[in-house]
Amino acid sequence: MKIVLLGYMASGKSSIGRKLSSKTGLTLIDLDDYIVEREKMTISNIFSEKGEIYFRKIEGIYLAEILNKEEGFILSLGGGTPCYGNNIQIINEANATSIYLQASVKKLAERLIAKKQKRPLVASLNDDQIFEFVGKHLFERTRFYEQAKISIKTDGKKKNEVVEEIYNLLF
Ligand code: S3P
Repeated sequence: MKIVLLGYMASGKSSIGRKLSSKTGLTLIDLDDYIVEREKMTISNIFSEKGEIYFRKIEGIYLAEILNKEEGFILSLGGGTPCYGNNIQIINEANATSIYLQASVKKLAERLIAKKQKRPLVASLNDDQIFEFVGKHLFERTRFYEQAKISIKTDGKKKNEVVEEIYNLLF
């Protein structure tokens, strides 16, 4: 089985992916980690030294490479992955179950404020600016996220409850 977790930055894709991976035994692939390993650079350094356009290009290439794998996996994407090129179509045509981890602007902004350093899109913003940025950016991206085959609301739920919900839907 191929499961693709998508959603905004700090929506829980990586942590829910890890928990779902240990529950199901499916290998977890984190697209950002995969990119860091293949490019031998951090995401922040790719953005600052090579630029976002370069990042989006390789993100699409590595996404396709992973989706072509024969064996099953859980893939947690970067927040922007489904929103560039025809990535969302590629994901949905890859015989993968795409799952949107939906969260409110408030929850996302609060989590991002607490851990913004590794995220070049918000690293230089103050708390108020992060709220404003997330509000606009999530609005622009929602039309891509909503193309996922399944949407799960995560506000007010513990990570384990979200994992159970996914597990009960798919297994
Ligand atoms: C990005 C999200 C990040 C990472 C990069 C760009 C985005 O991943 O891919 O910083 O455009 O939303 P996370 O969603 O894991 O933070």
